[in-house]
Amino acid sequence: MEFKIGLIHGDGIGPEIVNEAQKVLDAVSERYGHTFNYSKLLLGGASIDATGYPLTEETIAEAKTCDAVLMGSIGGDAKTSPWYQLEPSRRPEAGLLAIRKALNLFANLRPAYLYNELRAACPLRDEIIGEQGFDMIIVRELTGGLYFGERETKVVDGVQTAVDSLSYNENEIRRIAKQAFEIAMKRRKKVTEVDKANVLDSSRLWRKITAEVAAEYPEVTYENMLVDNCAMQLVRDPKQFDVILTENMFGDILSDEASMVTGSIGMLSSASLNESSFGLYEPSHGSAPDIAGMNIANPIATILSAAMMLRYSLNLTKEADAIEAAVQQVLTDGYRTGDIYSDGMKKCTTSEMGDAIVGALK
Ligand code: IPM
Ligand code: MG
Repeated sequence: MEFKIGLIHGDGIGPEIVNEAQKVLDAVSERYGHTFNYSKLLLGGASIDATGYPLTEETIAEAKTCDAVLMGSIGGDAKTSPWYQLEPSRRPEAGLLAIRKALNLFANLRPAYLYNELRAACPLRDEIIGEQGFDMIIVRELTGGLYFGERETKVVDGVQTAVDSLSYNENEIRRIAKQAFEIAMKRRKKVTEVDKANVLDSSRLWRKITAEVAAEYPEVTYENMLVDNCAMQLVRDPKQFDVILTENMFGDILSDEASMVTGSIGMLSSASLNESSFGLYEPSHGSAPDIAGMNIANPIATILSAAMMLRYSLNLTKEADAIEAAVQQVLTDGYRTGDIYSDGMKKCTTSEMGDAIVGALK
């Protein structure tokens, strides 16, 4: 089959890791007889350098012609990069938020899974990890809440004041809740809805609407958890979680925490989906400008994001399985980039890791 894939190389380590993912996609297309046509898209700092803006109409229009988009990472060092001298709405991150909104990518899926081979990299004690390790997915609402509320910085009675407003309507909550329950049905059938319902009205609405959706999925165990408790439970007993369903800001914070307990944020993929099968796929980590261009970054999160793209947007299940199996294989074989290296393993560069995964596919 033939597909059109948008590629956003982005900033920092983005270009190197996307190149490795493209290498893996090319190997898959060859092995399974598909044609992947690529279209390069500008976003973030790279787009600012080329056009003055972190996202242009051209990128949005071109992305809409693609079956899916694979992204590296965007952004630079806020202390040294000239991008951060621009007003906030012209900085790299604003481009990422704007493309999520423009493409209606309301469902952000962030799996956090502990590879048995990487148990040594997990900062938690063995007895906390347990025999079977842990395997959860955070389903984060991505186009509402504080990120997209009204904001204003002003002087009130001579005092500098900034306001960010947090608003959700029932439809925004219901559609993401449905996604979470559908995903739970294909997993261990448990949804933990995370909020701050002891304080926030928006959280109380989240509880009400998600409980209504839960009633449509009697097979799924449904529970509510306060976000501060969830932050604690993630390090106290991560294996209790299957699907964590939460709003935009809480999901941002909890997903970094969940990724850390897996040992390396360099291993974790993510998908941002709209109502149809279209999605933007990106590693859960950032652009790591400090190691950009050094060929030492871990490309696995991006390669696993490409696998998610094949699974969710292109409906190529066995191809996605093959990539995931190849990643598993290279870990078993001892290949490690610096971030996941431990004694006795084979230390490799970004491109060597990509080559090893391509090798394991064949
Ligand atoms: C993420 C990132 C973004 C977010 C930033 C870069 C705006 O942290 O994807 O988690 O907060 O959503
Ligand atoms: Mg984040």
